[in-house]
Amino acid sequence: MTQAALSSLINHQIRLAARPAGLPTDANWSHTSDAVAEPADGAVVLQTLALSLDPAMRGWMNEGKSYIPPVAIGEVMRAGGVGRVIASKNDKYAVGDYVSASFGVQEYLSLEGADMRRNGLVKIDLRVGTLTQWLNVLGMPGMTGYFGLMDVGQPQAGETLVVSGAAGAVGQTVGQMAKIRGCRVVGIAGGQAKCDWVVKELGFDACIDYKSGPSAVREGLKAHCPQGVDIYFDNVGGDILDTVLARINRKARIVICGAISQYNATTAIAGPKNYLSLLVNRARMEGIVVFDYADRYHLAVAEMAGYLKDGRMKSKEDVVQGLQNFPSALLKLFNGENFGKLVLEVASA
Ligand SMILES: NC(=O)c1ccc[n+]([C@@H]2O[C@H](COP(=O)([O-])OP(=O)(O)OC[C@H]3O[C@@H](n4cnc5c(N)ncnc54)[C@H](OP(=O)(O)O)[C@@H]3O)[C@@H](O)[C@H]2O)c1
Repeated sequence: MTQAALSSLINHQIRLAARPAGLPTDANWSHTSDAVAEPADGAVVLQTLALSLDPAMRGWMNEGKSYIPPVAIGEVMRAGGVGRVIASKNDKYAVGDYVSASFGVQEYLSLEGADMRRNGLVKIDLRVGTLTQWLNVLGMPGMTGYFGLMDVGQPQAGETLVVSGAAGAVGQTVGQMAKIRGCRVVGIAGGQAKCDWVVKELGFDACIDYKSGPSAVREGLKAHCPQGVDIYFDNVGGDILDTVLARINRKARIVICGAISQYNATTAIAGPKNYLSLLVNRARMEGIVVFDYADRYHLAVAEMAGYLKDGRMKSKEDVVQGLQNFPSALLKLFNGENFGKLVLEVASA
């Protein structure tokens, strides 16, 4: 892109304006814009094509210690994404290359030097997967599901695995990989449509609609896990975690991946009441953070891209259009309106 064409571009951004209490509202965001500058020597200018909307964003809006620093007030909201190089003064990147990086909720981003590594800038190959698959099964949620399952869940053929958030980004990878490893797979999801999809399309053995009644999870586990639960991959926490804990087997593994039911709590979050089931069953509960596996992502990508190609795995994305719709789109994660990996399309590829 010529210097004149670059300087005519306006970069629209969404910044964190205030820390939320409970669900984020419009008051938590500010909308800003600035000009796009010519890249310095060694730098690249990227155009955002699509952003990954993640439950973790809610945690990044809070003050306090976590596995990653909070987004500062006034900072462009953090977001992983995929995009295209539109100007380059770096030998490793050519105009037209597709990349994945931490883009932030904005239309353009310049990166140079150490920021390239800090922002996780890597090229992606669209022959391996589509742009949205690179945000889903081949992206951060897929890596979470894969390594959480393999490293902590340690699935063995014939075991029973239960996964909550089953129709979501992480859940769809976990359930399908566990089927490939020979497990009996039971999902937990909100609503009949999501349950039908994981069973009929993804090949799960059963799925429990936790919204169908107050004892749906307890009764569903009794019906669909007659041999008990060997692995529970927990994406939601809260009452569902407690109910599954009551059904685990000896030496069960509980993968603590997330607790979305608690992310917008305005009082102390609810921890598991049934934790003594771990003692009785000599079981283990372990948390995972996906970034710890970054040096092995390529292995999971190679394996799962093969399954996507040969049809053993499917991926479903739920795409919302338009950067300005970020605040409302994010809320879909917390009311279960997203069906599949939630993606915000910012520009067409
Ligand atoms: N540890 C890590 O490194 C790591 C990395 C990525 C993600 N995660 C965690 O993994 C989990 C899933 O993330 P994702 O990106 O795959 O999101 P997702 O499952 O695609 O979307 C979130 C889903 O959570 C469910 N949900 C929302 N509120 C709920 C509630 N109160 N009770 C039960 N379910 C609720 C909804 O599905 P239903 O319609 O089924 O209710 C919603 O669609 C999150 O907890 C996230 O924080 C952890």
